[in-house]
Amino acid sequence: MKKLPLLLLPLLLIGCDNRAKGFTQKKITSFYSFDPRFEVPLSDEKRQEVLHILAQSYTFLGSGNHTYVFQSEDGKYVIKFFKQKHMSNNIWQNYVPLPHKLFPSRQKILTRRKNEREKSLKSYLLAYQILRENTGIIYPHLTKSKQLNISTHFTDQHGTPFTLKMDNMEFVIQKKAEVGFTHLRTLLEKGEEEKALSAIASLYKIIVLRAQNGIHDRDLQIYKNFGFIDGKAIQIDIGEYRLQTPQLRDDLANINYQFRVFLEKDYPTFRLLFEKQVQEIMQTL
Ligand SMILES: Nc1ncnc2c1ncn2[C@@H]1O[C@H](COP(=O)(O)OP(=O)(O)OP(=O)(O)O)[C@@H](O)[C@H]1O
Ligand SMILES: [Mg+2]
Repeated sequence: MKKLPLLLLPLLLIGCDNRAKGFTQKKITSFYSFDPRFEVPLSDEKRQEVLHILAQSYTFLGSGNHTYVFQSEDGKYVIKFFKQKHMSNNIWQNYVPLPHKLFPSRQKILTRRKNEREKSLKSYLLAYQILRENTGIIYPHLTKSKQLNISTHFTDQHGTPFTLKMDNMEFVIQKKAEVGFTHLRTLLEKGEEEKALSAIASLYKIIVLRAQNGIHDRDLQIYKNFGFIDGKAIQIDIGEYRLQTPQLRDDLANINYQFRVFLEKDYPTFRLLFEKQVQEIMQTL
């Protein structure tokens, strides 16, 4: 047991290396093999669409807690790669001759990550299968496959180019949206109140439709998880959908609150119109 810290030292150093700040290819490299539960078949037509999108080159756009996001040359699409640290089965404890006593703790880490991965991948599947229009999802490639046979060119946050064989990657293609309140701000600055009301109504529609489909969402934050395309809302963060009893009233109260905070300071007159519309929406439920 005394020798353990020494044994672990080199591996801890390897672990530190993995902590390089920001995006690295290593952080999106999956060690999971093909899993038929997560393969989404492609019709010929869909395959053509996907290949056309993957033939573009992509530049680093940003990241969330769970993903790194790249945007296409034409600005219409994003590719989202999963941060594998939350889900990886490739943990340094796998490579250490652990004493028996520590076996269960290694197993616990692996099980926790596997569960987290499965919940997250199922969420993307739900978005694709049930809420495609509302989430702008074009295609979820959630497990390694031989379906694509294409290499896509990327540029990272430092401007360094790299290429990925997309069959080997776990990723999602989604339409690019204008994130958060920016679109509404643009409309309201121009006095386009009707358009703003209609954009807001489209976001409420997403919340209601999701709940009507028996899906709960654990991450309802407008400023970073919703966006607008051509005046209509989509939910861009689709990693937290769960097939469990939705809490529609709570969700709407939450969304109302976020809009009120946004409008209160800068658009007090519009806020009255907003409140009227919210009342009307609530009455229809
Ligand atoms: N379709 C999109 N269009 C434009 N920007 C996007 C899109 N998808 C993601 N982004 C940007 O990348 C960020 C992270 O994406 P997303 O919210 O899907 O990932 P996440 O890692 O699950 O986020 P979180 O930190 O909320 O868990 C978004 O907040 C947004 O800024
Ligand atoms: Mg997010």
